[in-house]
Amino acid sequence: TPPISSNIVYQQHHVSRDKRGQVMGKKGGFRGCTVWFTGLSGAGKTTVSMQLEEYLCSKGIPAYSLDGDNIRHGLNKDLGFAPADREENIRRIGEVAKLFADAGVVCLVSFISPYRKDRVGARHVHKKAGLPFVEVFVDTPLNVCEKRDVKGLYKKARSGQIKGFTGIDSPYEAPENPEVTVKTADQSITECMMEVVRELVQKDIIP
Ligand code: PPS
Ligand code: ADP
Ligand code: MG
Repeated sequence: TPPISSNIVYQQHHVSRDKRGQVMGKKGGFRGCTVWFTGLSGAGKTTVSMQLEEYLCSKGIPAYSLDGDNIRHGLNKDLGFAPADREENIRRIGEVAKLFADAGVVCLVSFISPYRKDRVGARHVHKKAGLPFVEVFVDTPLNVCEKRDVKGLYKKARSGQIKGFTGIDSPYEAPENPEVTVKTADQSITECMMEVVRELVQKDIIP
């Protein structure tokens, strides 16, 4: 069967990235990129991402967090946690992140994104579009995440009320070459956030 995308022709925008940069935010210049947080449930993806969003916006740099919990309430409400659903979840959000980045926004993605090949896929989508992609491994040991048990989900997973929970009975494949690794068990939220900021400055993405 032919792909659904046969007989589809790409339509060019008239607005260049330079022009977009001029009209986005107080700082001027195109800063579109994706910062991709990955890690176990309770690792600190949402916390660091939301803090970074606040920091960037306070500096006049448009930023927006796409969070797994939130996106699963809307765009991806048709998806569960079976491997194929997680794969489709990440495929879609990789594409959405690319659109935010192309629009000139610093797009912050905070999904578990447990499979390496799916994260590589999201990276590839950005590379093809000439947009920076910064992978941040929120490296928090399972025992620390489980002790935090922010939402009580580990307790439910241990008692068998949730099946296929990441780190318990569903795999998490740690990144091999992330641009940034943050250790939330040893560093404060602000220290973790500033590690990411440093990387964005060093890559000349933000001033
Ligand atoms: S994934 O694996 O990337 O598709 O997951 P994501 O879209 O980030 O959604 C993860 C949030 O859903 C809650 N939750 C679960 N997590 C892991 N495994 C199972 N089975 C599960 N069921 C529900 C959980 O709150 C996750 O959010 P975080 O922020 O990671 O704790
Ligand atoms: P995730 O989105 O990865 O599931 P959350 O951000 O919801 O994780 O939860 C992380 C928990 O760990 C929060 O309660 C947060 O306050 C706590 N925490 C402690 N230190 C840190 C840190 N350095 N970075 C991020 N979160 C931290
Ligand atoms: Mg979260």
